[in-house]
Amino acid sequence: MMSQEQNDLLTRVGPGTGAGSVLRLYWQPAALSDELMSARPVVPVRLLGEDLVLFRDNEGALGLIGRHCPHRGADLCYGRREDNGLRCPFHGWHFDRTGQCVEQPGEPEGSRMHENIRAVSYPVVEKNGIVFAYMGPGDPPPFPALDCFAAPDSHVFAFKGLWECNWLQAMEVGIDPAHASFLHRFLQDEDPSEGYGKQFRDKAGNTEMPMTQLLREYPRPDIRVEETDFGLRLISLRHMKDGRSHVRVTNQIFPEAICIPMSNEMTITQWHVPVDDETCYWYSMFTSFGKPVNKTLMREQRMKEHRLPDYAPLKNKRNNYGYNPDEQESLTYTGMGLDINVHDQWAVESMGRIQDRTDEHLGRTDVAIMKNRRKLLAAIKSVKEGDLSTLPMRGDAPEVEAVRGPVSIDAMGPTDAWEDLWPQADRTRRAACEWPAAL
Ligand code: FES
Ligand SMILES: [Fe+2]
Repeated sequence: MMSQEQNDLLTRVGPGTGAGSVLRLYWQPAALSDELMSARPVVPVRLLGEDLVLFRDNEGALGLIGRHCPHRGADLCYGRREDNGLRCPFHGWHFDRTGQCVEQPGEPEGSRMHENIRAVSYPVVEKNGIVFAYMGPGDPPPFPALDCFAAPDSHVFAFKGLWECNWLQAMEVGIDPAHASFLHRFLQDEDPSEGYGKQFRDKAGNTEMPMTQLLREYPRPDIRVEETDFGLRLISLRHMKDGRSHVRVTNQIFPEAICIPMSNEMTITQWHVPVDDETCYWYSMFTSFGKPVNKTLMREQRMKEHRLPDYAPLKNKRNNYGYNPDEQESLTYTGMGLDINVHDQWAVESMGRIQDRTDEHLGRTDVAIMKNRRKLLAAIKSVKEGDLSTLPMRGDAPEVEAVRGPVSIDAMGPTDAWEDLWPQADRTRRAACEWPAAL
């Protein structure tokens, strides 16, 4: 059980808050590259409670600056895209992509006032379909060499979705390996060969058993959690009646991402990015170790479930997430359809905008959730004391760039050999990969 004060520290994201100060020390997904694929690439971005505008200038370079004009606050999302920056339509003040005011056409001739005017501005970098922003103090850290960044663009597909809840409860569903046996339970199995691009629809490891059957029949995973240089590694063992075990390796990448297997071919690296205290986006990079990703199909599958421009899910609390009691009897555990994102969305949104962690009862399966909260509280304390040395991936550049993978895989084999099963399965997959994936 946590105190209200601890819950506030863990969940609040504005400038100067506990979690907000930690999150600001890491690159944050700010937009999909897809969002800038228009004739006028200028989009509003609300990130960590700050209102910003992201744009691509006429040279193709990106800028991320404060949304409200430093003059009298008009909305720069309506700015004129000129001369490698944005010009406010109210009085014509012009800001370059770094946020520097370079012209005030209505001020007296020769005025140099603009030299002292700067819009808020943050560095941005585009990686395999996502524009990342650094909103913290000092120089941004280097990117770790995670698979989703190391893979070529052809093997990564990025997408996002809006959830109406705090970022931490969204992230915590990703480090809760037990819920998949319940929340995502299918009472009937589909043909795994028709599961492309979908979570838990492949075969379990190198067997013929559908993942859905394994999750349904073995609902009590033995969960081990290890500290790593990027965060936490979760190993979930499902010991089967026939002397074999299923091993699922998933990860928490500090502070707000997870990396999990999606199918035998693909992994998902997913950030739970705060829009503000009460809303977040999941940003996923689906990374293929096999064939190039079929982006058209992946996009089509997901666009059927989301609306533009905000990527809000079509099933949501206003339509009871499509809940159908007959379906709950016969087909799915939730009665909310076959898209597991909707199940997760219901679980985390139905807790309330910010889960009341002063009133919960954690069990053995919540071991990673507890560990992660302790890590985050310790990081908040260190940052407050000005010490970043204990924070994952905030050390020396070579150290950060040496963070690779992480291994995210499902494997199955003899129970007494489980410790070798998953590294072996991972090595085999990486060795056969078209891009240099070996660790
Ligand atoms: S408010 Fe933007 S130029 Fe005046
Ligand atoms: Fe889930």
